[in-house]
Amino acid sequence: MRPKYYITTPIYYVNAQPHIGTAYTTIAADVMARYKRLCGYETFYLTGTDEHGQKILRAANAEGMNPKEYADRIVSQYYKTWADLNIKYDYFIRTTDPKHQKAVQTLFSKIANNGDIYKGKYSGWYCTPCERYVSVKESSPEGLRGGCPVCQRPTEFLEEENYFFRLSKYRDKMLDYLKKNGDFVEPVSRYNEVFSKIEMGLDDISISRASFDWGIPLPSDQKQIIWVWFDALTNYLSGVGYPEDEGIFKKFWPADVHLIAKDILWFHAVIWPCMLFSAGLEPPLKIFAHGWWTMNADKISKSKGNVIYPADVIDRFGVDSIRYFLLREIPFGQDGDFSLPALLRRHNNELANELGNLIMRCLTMIEKYNGSKVPKSEGIDSSKELWNELFTSLEQKFSAYMECLQFSLALEKVWEAIKMANKYIDDTKPWVLAKEKTGRLSDVLYNLAEIIRLVSVYLMPFMPNTAEIIRQQLGIDDEMISIPSGLSFGQIRPGTKVNKGSALFPKVE
Ligand code: MSP
Repeated sequence: MRPKYYITTPIYYVNAQPHIGTAYTTIAADVMARYKRLCGYETFYLTGTDEHGQKILRAANAEGMNPKEYADRIVSQYYKTWADLNIKYDYFIRTTDPKHQKAVQTLFSKIANNGDIYKGKYSGWYCTPCERYVSVKESSPEGLRGGCPVCQRPTEFLEEENYFFRLSKYRDKMLDYLKKNGDFVEPVSRYNEVFSKIEMGLDDISISRASFDWGIPLPSDQKQIIWVWFDALTNYLSGVGYPEDEGIFKKFWPADVHLIAKDILWFHAVIWPCMLFSAGLEPPLKIFAHGWWTMNADKISKSKGNVIYPADVIDRFGVDSIRYFLLREIPFGQDGDFSLPALLRRHNNELANELGNLIMRCLTMIEKYNGSKVPKSEGIDSSKELWNELFTSLEQKFSAYMECLQFSLALEKVWEAIKMANKYIDDTKPWVLAKEKTGRLSDVLYNLAEIIRLVSVYLMPFMPNTAEIIRQQLGIDDEMISIPSGLSFGQIRPGTKVNKGSALFPKVE
C-alpha cells in the first residue's frame, strides 16, 4: 500500500479576493503536495473558503447582496487565481457545502454528547475581523481601547446567551500531548509560544452566536448558529469525507500538516486539537505556522490597503517566477518584506541568467556538436563520478529540507548544482573539446544533458511549467519523474533527441 500524505491550507474568508499573502500558503502547500506525489505518496491537498459569520454577512450587506451570492462571486476569483498559479488541489471545500454543514453538526453533537458543551452567558469583547472572542486576560491594562490584541482593529462588546466548549478540561491533556510530540507545532518558537500560553491556563470558550443567522444552526437549538471558527476548523475533516465517506476519511485522517500563518496559530494548535480530543478523534500530526509577507514592515492585508494581487505580478514575470520567488526569498517560518526590486533581481539573475542560460547553453551545444542527440558517454572523463557524488548528496539534502518544509534551503541546494554546471561548461570549454576530437566532448555533453534532466525533476514541485518545458526540450516527456528513483545520475538514454526551443525566462526590465 502506498503511504498517504494529507496537507491543508487555511480556508480563506470570502470578504476579499486572493492576494499575495493567501497565495503564499496555497503555493507552499501545492509545492509540498507535488513533492509528495513525486515521492509516490497518495496525496490529498485540501484548500477552500470560509463563508459564514458576521464578518462575511456584513461584507455582503455592504454590497447589498445576499451572503451566499456574495460568496459565490468571490469564490470564482479564488478558482481563477489558483488556476493561474497552477495550484493542483484535490478538493476545494466551501463551508456552505451541505455535506460540510452536516459534518459540523455531527462533530458538534459528538462533543455535546461527551458532556463538553454547556449553555452560559458571554459578556465580553469580540473582534469581528478576526472572528474571535477577546478575553479579559488579553486586554491591556487600560481595557480594549487599543482594539484587538492581534489585529488592533476595534472590538465590540457582546452580551449573548451562548453555548460554551469546556476547553479548560483539556489543559493537561494538551500539555502532555505537546510534551510527547515536540514537533507538533513548528517552527519551535511557535511551539514554545503555545506551550507557555497553555501553561498559564485555558478558559472555556463560547462556540455559538445568537444575534444573526448566517451560519450553521446548532443541532439542538435552531435559534443559534455555530461559531464560525468551530465551523471552519471542521473543514479539515469534512474535506476528506467525514463523517459519511468513511473510506476516504480513514485513509487520510489525521492530516499530516496544516499550513497556516502565525496569526491563526491558537485556533489550530489549541482549540482544534481539544475539539478533536473531545470528539474522540486524533489530532493532526503537525501545525506549521509560517510568517507574514509585509510591505514596509506592515502585514500585507486588505484592511491595510497594501495588497498585491498575483495577477499583477504574473503578467510581468510569469507564474513560475512568482512561485519561485515567494518560496526562495524568505525562510519558511519568518516574516519578510515583499519588494519588486528583489523579485526583479531573482528573476533576472537566478532564473534568466543562471537557470535559463544553463539550459540554453546545454541544448545549443548538443544541437551544434552532436546533431541534437544526447551523445553516449565515452568514460574518458572522470567528471561523471564527481557529478554522481554531487547529486547523491544533493538528493539527501534536498529531501531533508523538504521534509521540514524549508523550501528556501532546498532551492538554494538546487541552485548550487545549477551554478556548478555553468562553471563546468566554462571550465571544460566544450567548444575547444569539439576541435580536439578526443571523445571527452561526448562525456561532457552527456553529463550536461543528465544534469538538466535532474534539475527538471528537482524543480517540478516548485516550477511545474518550467520543469515540463525543460523535459520537452530534452525530449523525455514522462520518463524518470519520480523521487528518489529518477534522481540517480546517468539515466538519460544516449540518442535522445533534444529540441532547443526558446529561452525559458525572458529578462524583465
Ligand atoms: N478563515 C480563516 C481561516 C480558517 S482555517 C480553519 C482566516 N482566513 S484569512 O482569509 O484571513 O486567511 C488567513 C491566512 O491567509 C493566513 O493563515 C495565511 O495562510 C494567509 N495570509 C494572509 N495574509 C498573509 C500575509 N500577509 N502573509 C502570509 N500569509 C498570509 O484566517
